[in-house]
Amino acid sequence: MIVMGVESSCDETSVALVKDGKTVLSNAVLSQIDIHREYGGVVPEIASREHVKGISLVFDQAVKRAGIAFSDIDLIAVTAGPGLIGSLLIGVAAAKVIAMNFDIPIIGIHHIAGHIYANNIEHDLEFPCLALVVSGGHTQLIVMKGHYDFQIIGETADDAVGEAYDKIARVLGLPYPGGPLVDKKAALGKDLYKLPRPLIDSGDFQFSFSGLKSHVINLHHNMVQRQEPFAVEDICASFQEAVTDVLVKKTKEAAHRYAVKQVIVAGGVAANKGLRAKMTREITDVPVYFPGMAYCTDNAAMIAVAGYFKFQKTGKADDYAINGDSRLELK
Ligand code: KG4
Ligand code: ZN
Repeated sequence: MIVMGVESSCDETSVALVKDGKTVLSNAVLSQIDIHREYGGVVPEIASREHVKGISLVFDQAVKRAGIAFSDIDLIAVTAGPGLIGSLLIGVAAAKVIAMNFDIPIIGIHHIAGHIYANNIEHDLEFPCLALVVSGGHTQLIVMKGHYDFQIIGETADDAVGEAYDKIARVLGLPYPGGPLVDKKAALGKDLYKLPRPLIDSGDFQFSFSGLKSHVINLHHNMVQRQEPFAVEDICASFQEAVTDVLVKKTKEAAHRYAVKQVIVAGGVAANKGLRAKMTREITDVPVYFPGMAYCTDNAAMIAVAGYFKFQKTGKADDYAINGDSRLELK
């Protein structure tokens, strides 16, 4: 079964073709990062316009690279939410046009289901499974007892991990998106500042990162005011150690409590080298998997994989009334 994935929820325009929920035939991604960098973050209006400009090209690239024709496609899976509504609508409208034109069934996918299913490209999901979702918009622990069965057991009360990374990067003068740069600098610094590990001993699976973020911003501000010497690398290392300590400890506790067979990490922050190393080092009794680097941040291959499994599970597609929903719930 060949599934076409379409993703446009934020600042990446992407179309992919994936066979049987596993083999990526093509994954064309047009990133707008260079355009938004100038503004220090994603500007929704510009994002929508860039999706309009780029989407036809990305459809063509995906189909050409896969060496197939539109008529070979069995299902179109499109991100229906959550995300920026203007951006979502471009992908959904384009996917509908292809679906109607070639008479292909269409299915709406939750963006986070996509991030989770990115893991299935390299390792088959095995259940029960625990997913740690860490992206720019989400921080959640999710238990799956089978395909397309999501139970959120904990999430952040405020900032998502990626969001905290990006805000700290901005204060430290690093360009958008700062997460990958903080990660690089952290590798060169020391955990000097012994920052708080929010909710680490709470015994549940809730998270909170806005207090830690403010702590880092105040620490930096005070050192600048007092003209104290400091290294940005040490601030990055201290922040990364604090965040990853909390994420790893809670994930480990949840893996044991729910007796899972597998732990998977999903979302842009799954690319974080410090997190990857600590998860593998600390969780040794259950296999821990990460998506390949190209499938951590937003891409359409993950949406196609999720679409395959959602279709297998429910046996039905959506109708052409399908629409974007910026606050879509995971189910
Ligand atoms: O999943 P994603 O591409 O988009 C959302 O669904 O939000 O995640 C983007 C987020 C950004 O906040 C980015 O800074 C962060 O993932 N990110 C990282 C790293 N690579 C991407 N954060 C920390 N370390 C990284 N290596
Ligand atoms: Zn994402």
